[in-house]
Amino acid sequence: MIRNPVIPYAIIAIVGIVMVVVFSYIGDNQRQAMNEEENGTTEETEEVGEPDEVYANSCVSCHGDDLSGASGPDLTQVGDRLSEDEIEDIIINGKGSMPDGLTSLEEAEVLAEWLADMK
Ligand code: HEC
Repeated sequence: MIRNPVIPYAIIAIVGIVMVVVFSYIGDNQRQAMNEEENGTTEETEEVGEPDEVYANSCVSCHGDDLSGASGPDLTQVGDRLSEDEIEDIIINGKGSMPDGLTSLEEAEVLAEWLADMK
């Protein structure tokens, strides 16, 4: 029997093309499913808590539960000494022995606004 020597290669090529199409179809479906999953969770944007709650969670240990200070300074009059921007900067970047990054950036903003009114 005389066989065309090209046929095996042609079969491999066709199988290869079919696999590429099938896999990219499967991959696309999976990616869509992943996107849907991700959107499901990221759409609920994290709630920024009330400033006094954020304070209670992140700051009380050093500044006291009534802002009157402990290992950190008294903050009851902090709005007299510092502007909102300066306070926000301290919350984000820390100062001296106060650690940085205690809150998210959004929380730092609402906290700073709240503390700037303490005068
Ligand atoms: C680990 C202890 C610690 C924690 C937690 C902490 N602080 Fe401080 N904070 C300090 C210390 C110590 C200073 C004084 C730093 C200096 O002046 O060198 C300070 C200074 C400050 C100042 C400047 C006060 C001034 O009069 O100069 C502000 C405003 C402040 N903290 C706000 C916050 C807020 C808001 C939080 C919560 C997100 C917080 N701190 C959490 C220790 C802490």
